[in-house]
Amino acid sequence: MLATPTQTDLDRVNTKYPAYNLMQVNEGKRLYESYCAGCHKLKNPASKTEERWKEIVPKMVVKAKKKDIVIDENSQALILEYLVTMSKK
Ligand code: HEC
Repeated sequence: MLATPTQTDLDRVNTKYPAYNLMQVNEGKRLYESYCAGCHKLKNPASKTEERWKEIVPKMVVKAKKKDIVIDENSQALILEYLVTMSKK
């Protein structure tokens, strides 16, 4: 089970990214679950740092596209927003 973002997670991430909000982060979680589980098990967001997620997500979007799974820019941004919020500190 993936951790559900809480207001405490948001309060912490908002010090660095003031524009993130709980609605977007929850939408990012939903998109992560629907787009990123097609080829492997979902990775725990807390297993990687923010920097690693920023490298990995664009690579995975390219991989997905080759399999005709199209993740648009907005969805990609929301997935990253979720992963960054819940990333390893
Ligand atoms: C088309 C199949 C496919 C989809 C869809 C996919 N992945 Fe992957 N993913 C792979 C493969 C293959 C690997 C192992 C090879 C690699 O690391 O490049 C991998 C590896 C990973 C890793 C481990 C990389 C590391 O360096 O530890 C992470 C994390 C990951 N995927 C996250 C995601 C996320 C987030 C998404 C959704 C945006 C996603 N994947 C969607 C195929 C996919």
